[in-house]
Amino acid sequence: MSDGMHNTILLQGLGLLCLLALAAAANLSDYVTPCKSKDPELNECVRRAAQQVLEKSSKGFPDLGVPAMDPAKIPALAIDRTGALAMSLSFSNSTHQGLGSTVVKSARVDPVAHVYNFSVVIPKYAVDGIYDVNGRVILLPITGHGKANITFTDIETEWSFTGQKATKDGQDYLKLTKLETSIHPDSPKNVQVHFDGLFGGNKILGDTMNDFLNQNWKEIVKQLKPGVQASFDRRLLPVAQRFMENFPLKQLFDDQ
Ligand SMILES: *[C@@H]1O[C@H](CO)[C@@H](O)[C@H](O)[C@H]1NC(C)=O
Ligand SMILES: *[C@@H]1O[C@H](CO)[C@@H](O)[C@H](O)[C@H]1NC(C)=O
Ligand SMILES: *[C@@H]1O[C@H](CO)[C@@H](O)[C@H](O)[C@H]1NC(C)=O
Ligand SMILES: *[C@@H]1O[C@H](CO)[C@@H](O)[C@H](O)[C@H]1NC(C)=O
Repeated sequence: MSDGMHNTILLQGLGLLCLLALAAAANLSDYVTPCKSKDPELNECVRRAAQQVLEKSSKGFPDLGVPAMDPAKIPALAIDRTGALAMSLSFSNSTHQGLGSTVVKSARVDPVAHVYNFSVVIPKYAVDGIYDVNGRVILLPITGHGKANITFTDIETEWSFTGQKATKDGQDYLKLTKLETSIHPDSPKNVQVHFDGLFGGNKILGDTMNDFLNQNWKEIVKQLKPGVQASFDRRLLPVAQRFMENFPLKQLFDDQ
């Protein structure tokens, strides 16, 4: 057997041990106030629970295998090229701040269909890291590489989670299968960007482009929105899945 294969098996074994340890330890009421699916105020109960999870998510839930979310280190992030924008933008080594201050305004849930919708506001979301950009932004060519920061104010969005019932070791679980983020059309309220090192470090062109980006952020955000939404989906779904897989359904809704 090769060393590589040995390591893989060893890692799988360790992973299994961790899962077993988690399965034995997790108790939802240590993290949030559980709801009853027949509660006439179920939406409000789930809203409150989601708010509790988000507030605690800053530090993560190491005992549940959920990493710290605020600040979060994202090694690689690409905003996909979209038609009108014709630009590819990627970040490496980025730090994202602000998720822990998310306000969950309302929830609309259907525990039978396994649909969990949340209306949230992220008051301030700041990304900084090393960027690479190439393409066109509204008609103007843009290229560059260097440090960048982007600060969004008041991102209003819907998070729609769907799932299905899954059975593990004779227990029913909620397996989340999809997240759809939809950012409201009139949000965010403001965006400020700063890209160092645009156009090979040409200061005049770089300053001009930064001013242009800050003045035209509404149009740019409109074009970037699908990519930004998809990046929220890709980032948050696995974390939500990881959290939920620790708790049998009967713990989520203590009357099921
Ligand atoms: C979880 O915690 C609650 C409240 O502390 C307790 O009543 C319940 O027995 C615990 N459940 C498990 C499975 O440990
Ligand atoms: C990313 O961060 C790591 C650790 O902080 C560092 O070693 C690496 O050089 C950084 N990469 C870039 C492209 O800055
Ligand atoms: C949740 O949101 C989705 C997508 O907007 C929508 O189709 C669905 O009807 C909503 N469900 C509930 C229970 O609000
Ligand atoms: C963004 O970067 C610029 C230039 O490096 C810096 O002056 C500014 O303070 C940074 N803003 C934030 C919010 O980090």
